[in-house]
Amino acid sequence: MHSSLVNLLICTFLFRASNSEKITFENVTVQWRLDNRVFESVGTSDNLKKIVPDENQEWGKIIGNVPILYEKSVFDIPNLIILDVSNVGLEEIKPGAFGNLPLLEKLILSGNKLTEIKTDTFVDLSVTYIDLSSNSIILLQPRAFKNFNANYLLLDNNKLTEFPSGVFDNVTIGNLSLSNNRLHTIAPKALSTVRLRILNLPGNKLEEINPEVFDLQDLTTLNLDSNTVKLLRPGDLRNLPELDELSLVENQLKEIPEGVFNNTKLSDLNLDANKIAKIASRAFDDMKDLVSLRIDFNNLTQWDNNWQFGESSNRFISIRFNQITEIPDDAFKNIPNSDTIHLQGNKIRKISPKAFHQLEYVIDFDLANNEIDRWDPDFLGNTNLATLNLRGNKLECVEGDLQTVFRNVGIIKLMDNPWNEECTKKIEEFLENKNAFPW
Ligand SMILES: *[C@@H]1O[C@H](CO)[C@@H](O)[C@H](O)[C@H]1NC(C)=O
Ligand SMILES: *[C@@H]1O[C@H](CO)[C@@H](O)[C@H](O)[C@H]1NC(C)=O
Ligand SMILES: *[C@@H]1O[C@H](CO)[C@@H](O)[C@H](O)[C@H]1NC(C)=O
Ligand SMILES: *[C@@H]1O[C@H](CO)[C@@H](O)[C@H](O)[C@H]1NC(C)=O
Ligand SMILES: *[C@@H]1O[C@H](CO)[C@@H](O)[C@H](O)[C@H]1NC(C)=O
Repeated sequence: MHSSLVNLLICTFLFRASNSEKITFENVTVQWRLDNRVFESVGTSDNLKKIVPDENQEWGKIIGNVPILYEKSVFDIPNLIILDVSNVGLEEIKPGAFGNLPLLEKLILSGNKLTEIKTDTFVDLSVTYIDLSSNSIILLQPRAFKNFNANYLLLDNNKLTEFPSGVFDNVTIGNLSLSNNRLHTIAPKALSTVRLRILNLPGNKLEEINPEVFDLQDLTTLNLDSNTVKLLRPGDLRNLPELDELSLVENQLKEIPEGVFNNTKLSDLNLDANKIAKIASRAFDDMKDLVSLRIDFNNLTQWDNNWQFGESSNRFISIRFNQITEIPDDAFKNIPNSDTIHLQGNKIRKISPKAFHQLEYVIDFDLANNEIDRWDPDFLGNTNLATLNLRGNKLECVEGDLQTVFRNVGIIKLMDNPWNEECTKKIEEFLENKNAFPW
């Protein structure tokens, strides 16, 4: 009799011990919100839903220590819309931890210590976003995401060095964000099965745009800022038929050859902060939809009057802080109407007498901080400029009657030039009469 009681006690103890290993929520505080009031409950349970009353389960934030999310730990909570499990020291998510969450919109798992996402972790979920950023994820297992649909899947600030194939099975993602990982390889087609619109990859170590990897039929936006792309080749973008925005800021590009952008739908191309010293005359041909082009902080020494820059009249073209020394004849013949032409911070000294021929109208034409020491009274002819910025050049005077010289300029900025005394008076008089920007 005695011994069987001891046995029973031991069994109970063992059962409890092994069971408590699977208790996900131990002494955690859960904040719940209902009708904009915040409630708090403290509890221990294998399923989050048991810690709070049913009617309060729209929004929850867990405060405490949750090292492992066991199977069915966030399960069968029909009203749950937002769940915040950030910064709780989470190290592992067991497959099947999440399920039966029909209204779930946001799942925040950032700031934890996750190192991998296992097979069958995110299954049958349709959410606005899942935030897995700022963990230590080095591995994504096959089918980690299955029958999954999210506007945002955030994996920023993790430690992924490669992106294997098979991670996604029947998945739609609006914006997949993988910034600040250590990605140097993405397996060919790893992302091709995903219906993906935005791919955010800044701060990785990718060296090329391999068309086998970037084979993404729905992609509209690709951000590859701060990678180490050295070279763009014709055909690199051939499997991105819907690409509208491409950003390659801060890479290692030295040259833009012809044909890279042929037949793309790009409207926004950003090549700032590379080392581009050469762009083929026909590099931008065939880019009918181009509206915005940025090539600031590069090493271009020449303006090529054959560059095309698309067909829009709302063009924004910025080639600031390069080493361009001269504006040649008919420089703007292919872009007679534009919103913006920014050329400040170059080394432009010489402007050809025919430079502005064929230029009709620009809203914002900026030549500030160059080395222009002569402004020919006939430069502008019939060109209309809503704003002309000539600040920070080397002009000592402008010959001729300024009312006539700048007759088609709306606002003119002339500060920070070494105007000689005689000219200063002339300019002051001119600006007094003109409805103009004060120097
Ligand atoms: C949870 O709280 C109980 C009672 O205060 C305590 O005995 C137990 O050690 C706590 N568990 C953890 C994991 O902190
Ligand atoms: C794909 O996932 C969706 C949910 O996102 C689901 O409705 C559909 O049945 C799945 N298709 C297949 C073939 O599994
Ligand atoms: C995609 O999401 C990332 C992370 O939130 C964000 O930084 C980026 O701007 C988004 N991209 C677009 C085009 O909305
Ligand atoms: C790119 O397009 C231009 C203009 O249509 C054409 O002359 C050139 O041959 C094309 N280059 C490539 C590599 O397709
Ligand atoms: C590019 O320009 C930067 C800044 O003007 C300069 O320091 C650098 O030497 C140039 N590099 C090349 C390869 O011309």
